[in-house]
Amino acid sequence: MTELKNVRFEKDGAIAQITIDRPKALNALNYETLQELLYCFGLLEKAREITAVVLTGGGEKAFVAGADIAYMQELDAMAAADFAGLGHTVMTAIEKLPQPVIAAVNGFALGGGCELSLACDIRIASENAKFGQPEVNLGVIPGFGGTQRLPRLIGKGLASELLYTGDIIDAAEALRIGLVNRVVPADQLMATCREMAKKIASKGPIAIRLCKKTVNTGVEMDLDRANSYEAIQFGQCFASKDQKEGMQAFLEKRAADFQGK
Ligand code: CAA
Repeated sequence: MTELKNVRFEKDGAIAQITIDRPKALNALNYETLQELLYCFGLLEKAREITAVVLTGGGEKAFVAGADIAYMQELDAMAAADFAGLGHTVMTAIEKLPQPVIAAVNGFALGGGCELSLACDIRIASENAKFGQPEVNLGVIPGFGGTQRLPRLIGKGLASELLYTGDIIDAAEALRIGLVNRVVPADQLMATCREMAKKIASKGPIAIRLCKKTVNTGVEMDLDRANSYEAIQFGQCFASKDQKEGMQAFLEKRAADFQGK
């Protein structure tokens, strides 16, 4: 893929920013946009110099207002299942990225947009953000993982209410139920997310990578197996120069100089 039409990919030192940029359609996810996202995640996979990612929506109103309804309208059952499959591939790709991804939720995060935020590691919302899974209003169910990731994040009862009523909640309510980590004024959203990304990027890159992998792998296991998995990844850290540097720097009372090796 040589040209990105609906997605912007920018790098600033160790931080990458991905912006879904179809503001006329409130950044709705059509097939092409999902493909472009996948392409960007493929770049990130190989970009060892990038240690944190911010994902946001273009324009003033929306993070992502859902999967593209105009695109989906004419799909038959097979094509719809394929489209959902592509959506799942994109969401899983975020979880498997070596870098933590912060969703900067700058407006509507509905349907596929809410699901996209759920696949990210951390969600920061602006005060005007709105969340919901309104698919039942369209006669369908969430197709990019909402029925699965939402209950895992906020619990089955609260998730069931959102999924069955299609209610749209504001940022304060999203914070109350644990759907987002923080809510900030709109004009501070990107600075807050970048600051957090920079803080993450200042840590040992290998530790951050293994930490994300361990959280995302372990969360699907029973506690005994997950703890064993953690012990193995903990051991992996000791094969890195960063571990030697981090511990030595502490004992020498100086800041660590991590090289990601
Ligand atoms: N798909 C396609 N186009 C969309 C869209 C979507 N999900 N959401 C908004 N748009 C388009 C509108 O059609 C409109 O286009 P036109 O200007 O060409 O008419 C433009 O974006 C602006 O939207 P509105 O005029 O509707 O803006 P608003 O401020 O009045 O309302 C909104 C904003 C409440 C978010 C409303 O647009 C809305 O309800 N959008 C749909 C939300 C939704 O149902 N999302 C779930 C989709 S299904 C899904 O995501 C399935 C899945 O899990 C895979």
